[in-house]
Amino acid sequence: MKIDLHDCCARHPAARDAAPAALRGLSLHIAQGEQVAVIGPSGAGKTTLLHLLACALPPSSGHLRLDDKDPWTLKRARLHHLRGSLFLAPQVPPLPPRQRVVTAVLAARLPHIGLWQSLRSLVYPTGIAQAEAALERFDLADKLFGRVDRLSGGERQRVGLARVLLAQASLILVDEPLSALDPTRAHQAIAALTLAARECGASLVTTLHHVDMALAHFPRIIGLRDGELAFDLPAIEVTPERLRTLYAQHLDELTAPVAVAAFESPPQAVAMQCR
Ligand SMILES: Nc1ncnc2c1ncn2[C@@H]1O[C@H](COP(=O)(O)OP(=O)(O)O)[C@@H](O)[C@H]1O
Ligand SMILES: [Mg+2]
Repeated sequence: MKIDLHDCCARHPAARDAAPAALRGLSLHIAQGEQVAVIGPSGAGKTTLLHLLACALPPSSGHLRLDDKDPWTLKRARLHHLRGSLFLAPQVPPLPPRQRVVTAVLAARLPHIGLWQSLRSLVYPTGIAQAEAALERFDLADKLFGRVDRLSGGERQRVGLARVLLAQASLILVDEPLSALDPTRAHQAIAALTLAARECGASLVTTLHHVDMALAHFPRIIGLRDGELAFDLPAIEVTPERLRTLYAQHLDELTAPVAVAAFESPPQAVAMQCR
């Protein structure tokens, strides 16, 4: 799905009127199939941006276009249809505690199957092999019939990501997918997520607290600060200096390897000898 944001402002529904908007004057173009990581300190507006793109929050000014259509001018049925092709994976996946993992994963297909099949799947889940294959990518196939409330926080987060694989979405929006994962699991999970999006040609926008993961796995990085675009660059151009400016007064939020890089002196010129 193609995204165009033009001079968009948005505020959290619970924000006080006097509070500054969570997003201010944001303009962006994201092409079909592109993979983008959004970074920035807490309160920068990352989650608000995902809610805006998921059509869960209307812009207070400016325009949002998804595949050249303004979702907020569509008739109800067409907006509903559009929402069916978006998938927002929140930071804490909404998994009912007593539910089986298989049911939780298969629930991601609900917008694409009819009411009768949805009800039937609660009793006789279909697509178990699909759910197992999705869980396998996150190293969780052994939890297929386990209960959600018996999983660790990290396992629950990976179940939330496995749902992305069944969602048949053309725009995948993922909020802080790695917050409960150790570095090895985090690398595996983000690799599985980016591969899945590539395989189905979906656009992927992920907010990431882990700047090192963003730089390692995403070709394009958007830096947000105080609701405004600080930079929009290829990962290779995101220098320690830019990160230092983006996270000024919040340097404690930079993850360890990047934090070290951000404090290092700039690389010295190396004298090359050519024969
Ligand atoms: N529950 C809330 N109630 C009121 N305002 C909120 C709430 N959540 C977020 N906001 C406002 O939106 C801004 C952006 O928040 P958010 O998008 O969650 O940032 P991030 O995801 O980058 O941490 C916050 O600085 C705050 O002003
Ligand atoms: Mg957030």
